[in-house]
Amino acid sequence: MSEGKRTAKVPRTPRGKGEGVVEGVVEEGVVEGVEKGGLLREHGEQEFAAELLELGNVDKGKRPPNWRLSPQGVVTYLMGGTLENGFEVTPKYIGDRRIIEIAVATLTTDRALLLLGVPGTAKSWVSEHLAAAISGDSTLLIQGTAGTSEESVRYGWNYARLLADGPVMEALVPSPLMRGMQDGKIARVEELTRIAADVQDSLITILSEKTLPIPELGNEVQARKGFNVIATANDRDKGINDLSSALKRRFNTVVLPLPKTVDEEVEIVRRRVESLGRSLELPAEPPALEEIRRIVTIFRELRSGVTGDGKTKVKSPSGTLSTAEAISVVNSGIALAAHFGDGTLRASDVASGLIGAVIKDPVQDKVVWKEYLETVLKERKDWKDLYKACREVS
Ligand SMILES: Nc1ncnc2c1ncn2[C@@H]1O[C@H](COP(=O)(O)OP(=O)(O)OP(=O)(O)O)[C@@H](O)[C@H]1O
Ligand SMILES: [Mg+2]
Repeated sequence: MSEGKRTAKVPRTPRGKGEGVVEGVVEEGVVEGVEKGGLLREHGEQEFAAELLELGNVDKGKRPPNWRLSPQGVVTYLMGGTLENGFEVTPKYIGDRRIIEIAVATLTTDRALLLLGVPGTAKSWVSEHLAAAISGDSTLLIQGTAGTSEESVRYGWNYARLLADGPVMEALVPSPLMRGMQDGKIARVEELTRIAADVQDSLITILSEKTLPIPELGNEVQARKGFNVIATANDRDKGINDLSSALKRRFNTVVLPLPKTVDEEVEIVRRRVESLGRSLELPAEPPALEEIRRIVTIFRELRSGVTGDGKTKVKSPSGTLSTAEAISVVNSGIALAAHFGDGTLRASDVASGLIGAVIKDPVQDKVVWKEYLETVLKERKDWKDLYKACREVS
C-alpha cells in the first residue's frame, strides 16, 4: 500500500454528527491537528485506516444496519487475508477463526458480547478492533473500575448549564454508551467485573430494552440500529464482582484462550513487537526470532508447570506470564539493545525484563525462578548465554 495522500470514499463518522460516506482526501494515519506519526498510540481505526478502506471497497457481503463492513469483512479484518484485488490485510488476532466468527455473529444479534479470559489474551485488543471494523470508531469506551459510577455508565450533567438553563437535554453529558446508542455504534466496557454490582445492573435496561430512560427530563434515548456492547472481563483478578444472572443472560460469552502452540505465541509476540517498535521509532533491528522463541518457551513452561518436552516438572510463579508480558519483555530488551547496545537483541538485554516478569512475589517466586534457572535453563546447551545473563542479574 502506498504511503501518503489518496483520494477515496471514506466512510467516516465525525463524533456527534450523522454518519454516512463522505468524499475526501485521506492521508493514511493522519489525524487532524497532529503531524503524521505524532501520536504515541493510534486507535485501531486510525492505524489500520487503509485496510478498513480497502475492505470497505471490496466487501460485497450484506452489511447489518449501520455496520461499515459485512460480518465476513469484519472477520477478515481481524484474522487477516488477501483481498480479491491482491491487497493484504494483516492479522490482528492470531488464533482460532471460529472464536472471532462467534464474536462477530453475536454482535449482529440483540445480545451483547462478553470477552472473557485470563490477562493478556487480547480481550481489549479484539474489542477495540471489532469496534473499529464495525463502527469505524473504537473510542466509545467505559473503563470499568471499582469507582465507576452510574453516571459514567448512563449520563451526567454539565452543572453550569444545569444551573443556567435547568434540566434540558443540552445540559446532559452523555456517557460513551449513550453516544453509542444515539449513533448506532458499538460501545465498549472494559473490565466489567470490576464495576460494582449495582452499577453493572444499570446495563440491564440498556441491553434488554435498548433504551436509556432520563427520568429528570421525562425522556429517553432509544438505541439506533448498529448499537451493541462489547464488554471484557478477566477471570483471574481478585476483588471482582461477578455478574448477576440477569446481566449474564444479556451477554454471549466468548472465552479467549492462551495461544495453543509455541509457534502461535512466537508469531503474536513477533508481530506486536515489530509494530510497537515501528510506532516507538526504536532504532534497533527486528529481534531475532530465536530470542523471542526462548522467552516464549520459558513463559509457557513456567505457566504450564512442565517443560516443553514434557519431561521435567517445574513450579509456576504467582504472576500470569501472559503473551502481553512476553511482548513487553522483548520490547524493553529492544530498547536496551537500541540505546545502550549495538542494536541487536541479546540475552543480556532480555534477562532483567524476564526476571522482572517472573518474580512478582519477592520471596516465593524467587525460589521458583532459581529452581527453574538451575534445573532447566542451565541444562540447555545453546542457552548458556541466557543462563549466564540471568545469573548476573539475580
Ligand atoms: N491471540 C493473540 N493475537 C494477537 N495479539 C495478541 C494475542 N494474544 C495477546 N495478544 C497481544 O497481547 C497484548 C495484550 O492484549 P490485551 O491488552 O488486549 O489483553 P487483555 O486480555 O485485555 O488483558 P487484561 O485482562 O490484562 O486487560 C496486545 O498487544 C495483543 O496484541
Ligand atoms: Mg484488557
